[in-house]
Formats: sequence, structure tokens, C-alpha cells
Amino acid sequence: MSMETMINEAMNVIKPELKEQPKIGLILGSGLGVLADELAEAVTISYQKVPYFPESTVKGHAGQFVFGRLEGVPVVAMQGRYHFYEGYDLKQVTFPVRVMKALGVKQLIVTNAAGGVNTSFKPGDLMIINDHINMLGTNPLIGPNETNLGVRFPDMSEVYNKDLIEMAKSVAGEHQIDIKEGIYYATSGPSYETPAEVRMIRTLGGDAVGMSTVPEVIVARHSGLEVLGISCITNAASGILDQPLSHEEVIETTEKVKATFVQLVKAIVQKMGE
Ligand code: 6GU
Repeated sequence: MSMETMINEAMNVIKPELKEQPKIGLILGSGLGVLADELAEAVTISYQKVPYFPESTVKGHAGQFVFGRLEGVPVVAMQGRYHFYEGYDLKQVTFPVRVMKALGVKQLIVTNAAGGVNTSFKPGDLMIINDHINMLGTNPLIGPNETNLGVRFPDMSEVYNKDLIEMAKSVAGEHQIDIKEGIYYATSGPSYETPAEVRMIRTLGGDAVGMSTVPEVIVARHSGLEVLGISCITNAASGILDQPLSHEEVIETTEKVKATFVQLVKAIVQKMGE
């Protein structure tokens, strides 16, 4: 079966539920799903109800689309995403991006929790992603290309939209939100890095390290979506501090940053809607 057919089947289940077409897609990272609770006139669709969506396995990832208005702008938020480390292949991980595109989304805001590799970063910092390094060892576009979905060899010279980056930075400034900027380095996980790996990542130019985002963003660019990426730095990566890493620490930090994160993304969406 073609991917286009799969997308259409998924769309046919979702579309009848919607009051209006979403303009902006939001992928909410670990602990950042609260943003979806802010949507007005929310319509929720569980991933379980959507054809070709696999079942989500990790706690803290609700696994649903929330459609509604954020600052008056029609959006769709993914409360929970699929990760490569859960055992899904990257076509499954990125299928929701294809569906959002088909539903009318033009711009995608991708968020995640990430470890700080840049030693000037502190837990709780928000980082605008200005580029990424794909170290997943694979790519969601491997396999036959459906030219109606995108080109065989998509350009990756400006994955993270420069205008959106500038706008996000100025919006952060207007709200006195301290904002960092840097390169997101994607690993498969689920183990965190060793100190030697973190030194390597730093040498290679990574500022933050995480286990998501890059597959979705590659597919978003293949689909012609404009992308803005925001990492929440939840912890120092391995070897920087003399302490072990844990998922609990990641969630604790997102708890603390939640309000600022929500404020920033709302303001960005408002600007995008103008
Ligand atoms: Cl330190 N590493 C990776 N790969 N993902 C993370 C992280 C670190 N902290 C949060 N997510």
C-alpha cells in the first residue's frame, strides 16, 4: 500500500471530527504536553483511533492529537510522540507528521527535552534549535520515494526556518525569557550517553542531545513544512556534573519550566498567526 493511501485513511477518520483546518502543528516533548491543555474549543483524538498509528509505550506521553485554538490560531498539538527507541521504525515515528501536513498544517513547532552538552547551558534553559546532527544511523526517507509527498533528495541546508528562529528569539526577548540557541544532536537512546560520548558530541558541534525530533523534522522538510524547534534543557549531559542521570530529573525540570515554555510557545504561535 502506498503511503498516500495510508495518509488518506488516517485523514478520513480525523477530518469529520474537526471544526476547522489546523494551520500550525505542535509536537510536544516529554513533560511539555501541558501546552495542549491550553487549547480553546479542544477536540481530542486518541492515536489508537487513527489508522496506522502504533500504540505509545512511554509514561508521560499521553498519545493523542489535540485540535483547537491557541491565541486564536487553529493548531493541532501532538500530546505524546513516537520514539525510535520504543522499537518503531522511522516511518511509524514520522507518520503523524504526514497526517498533519495532509490536514492542512503549514508550519511545525517541534519540542523536546534534551541534555545540555554545551557547558554554558543550565537545566531549565530553553534552546532554539538552529541545526541538527542525525546520529540515529538511519533516516525516515529510506525506501521508495513517493514524489507526490516530496522529492527523492530533499535539501537540508536550512531545516530550521531562519525567519522563525529570528521571530522566536525576538518574542522571547519581548517577554524577558532567556533563550539559548544551538545544535541538537540526535541519538537513538534509550541509554543516555557515556561521558566520552558527550565529549565527542561536543567536539562534533552538538549543544544539546536527545532521542527525538530529527526524524519528524526530516519528514516535515520533505513535506515542505516550515520548522521551528525548541529544546528544553532538562539536565547536564553525562560527565559534566559528578552525578547520575535519570528520567525523573528530566520530568522534574520540565515541571519547573512548564509555565515559561507555555508562555513562549503561545507568544510564538500568536506571532505566526499574524
Ligand atoms: Cl543527557 N541524553 C539524551 N540522549 N536524551 C536526553 C538527555 C540526555 N536528557 C534528556 N533527554
